[in-house]
Amino acid sequence: MCGIVGYIGHQKASPILINGLLRLEYRGYDSAGIAVIEKDGISILKDKGKVNNLYNLDGIDKLEGTNGIAHTRWATHGKPSKINSHPHMDESNTFAVVHNGIIENFSELRKFLEDNNVKFISDTDTEVIPNLINYYYSKEVSRDIFSFLHAVKVACNELKGSFALEILCKDFPDNMIVVRKDSPLVIGKGVGENFIASDIPAILSFTKDFYLLNDFEYALLSRNDIKFFDNDLTEINLDTKTIEWNMEAAEKNGYDDFMLKEIYEQPTSIRETIGSTLNEDKVSFPDLNISKEYLHSLNRIYIIACGTAMHVGLATKNIFEQLCKIPVEVEVASEFRYKNPLVDSKTLCIYISQSGETADTIAALKLAKSKGAKTLAISNVIGSSITREADYTIYTHAGPEIAVASTKAYTSQVVLTTILAIYFSEILGTADTTLIDTLKKEILELPKKVDEVLTDTSAIKDFANKIYKEKDIFFIGRGLDYAITMEASLKLKEISYIHSEAYAAGELKHGTIALIENGITVISSITNPDLAHKTISNIQEVITRGAKTLVVTNQDLEGHSFDGVIRIPEVNPMLAPVVAIVPMQLLAYYVSKAKGLDVDKPRNLAKSVTVE
Ligand code: G6P
Repeated sequence: MCGIVGYIGHQKASPILINGLLRLEYRGYDSAGIAVIEKDGISILKDKGKVNNLYNLDGIDKLEGTNGIAHTRWATHGKPSKINSHPHMDESNTFAVVHNGIIENFSELRKFLEDNNVKFISDTDTEVIPNLINYYYSKEVSRDIFSFLHAVKVACNELKGSFALEILCKDFPDNMIVVRKDSPLVIGKGVGENFIASDIPAILSFTKDFYLLNDFEYALLSRNDIKFFDNDLTEINLDTKTIEWNMEAAEKNGYDDFMLKEIYEQPTSIRETIGSTLNEDKVSFPDLNISKEYLHSLNRIYIIACGTAMHVGLATKNIFEQLCKIPVEVEVASEFRYKNPLVDSKTLCIYISQSGETADTIAALKLAKSKGAKTLAISNVIGSSITREADYTIYTHAGPEIAVASTKAYTSQVVLTTILAIYFSEILGTADTTLIDTLKKEILELPKKVDEVLTDTSAIKDFANKIYKEKDIFFIGRGLDYAITMEASLKLKEISYIHSEAYAAGELKHGTIALIENGITVISSITNPDLAHKTISNIQEVITRGAKTLVVTNQDLEGHSFDGVIRIPEVNPMLAPVVAIVPMQLLAYYVSKAKGLDVDKPRNLAKSVTVE
């Protein structure tokens, strides 16, 4: 989704801005643009299409300015076009603005401005922002930097919806103002230069020290200084946070695609996530100040998230219920936020979000909080919005995930959520200690097991080459294998554009089996010995109707024959999602490659979905 980059310093801004936008390409976008303050005012270069197109635009070589803003747009209001691309200016060409988010009351504001004789040229919601700032700026009595700041503040207080904004004013060529509400924005502190981005990897090569703004906090940047203000424009102090990710981790490191690199990073990302939270004797979350009394008071846990992160809830619901003896509901955030959920002080709501910026997940968190529930965030990004809203936070340590289709974040989230369930059950005293000891030992072995899956991927590649021309593919599984196939199916459809669905194997006979005909591919996961023979019977039913079958398994399938079998290591069935998903991720990857698609940036999808 939209990306933002900004630079103010002593170097030419345009190459830094374009470079930053290239690093944000993975978020998904359809247009790109930059604005730089030049000697004679603000210059804007923008167009629909790829960031690299900016290099071909007339005038790009002539930009000398050292203060600039940049944007990749993912169309919401108005189709992708040059005119709708950001940056946008006000009618008098005084202000240039890039915006990430959605202005919900833009029609109202546009009408107000049109009634005041402002003419609009784009279809965007964003264009009201520079014009509204200019409207208030023209009413300021003085022309000092405070009048710029004040006009921005008054305009922002009129906006409903979400926004992260970078604002340039031609009257103050040595300053930039940034502000956010419900949309991601970070400020990187350099020496004699400062950087802005919607996402840390865009500027990680320049600095590791970041300021994180809260909603309605304003940063007034110059080359050597950053001043912060609250919504009353009282100056405030913010501390920097140091981000430990390194740039190498955000590069491809010799892999063809980020997705493949991230799949192969899983042994490391799982190991890092386990980190110090678990050793054979002990689970500890030193920063998680949850009391025994509070856990005992709980009558329900919700796990709420979107996309792959929601599938983590499905993969870990059972382990929570078995170990903690507390009922667990898993909800899609976009549904939860509008259903007037039954939550109160006896409900713990756990929110899982790789980016920590997903709009629906954040809204669902705010809702539960307003109803008195406690909230716990599981995120991969330090200081992300969700972690700042939640009562408690724990972090996965997957490193930057760039490919739109999530892989290493999923396995890290499953591992961390499982360790959390063990931690709660130890405090509650609800779980069988032999089971807990087994799980602890097996969690520590997961990186090795995932590594084994990654050692020989030829069978997966072969099967991908057999199925890449298919139109429909079905996945089936029972119990946790059903949860695994839901994620497997999502991976496949996201990056191969093949229609695919996952079904509980036992449900096939209630409808879906009507779709099975000669040559249809059915993929299953079989990792639970108690359910294996049941799923095998369901596979036999589809084979009888002509289906081509692939089985990912660690069970004994003697006496049965399938078109493809991918063996995975033995693993406790409760932890199977971490191991069994890996060949499924690779299958989706190789199918996408066989079709010649852009694996990392699938059409219409965005990495970080910061609008509803
Ligand atoms: C998008 C991404 C998915 C991700 C989902 C939730 O749809 O493409 O990969 O699972 O958002 O993102 P989050 O950052 O909240 O985990």
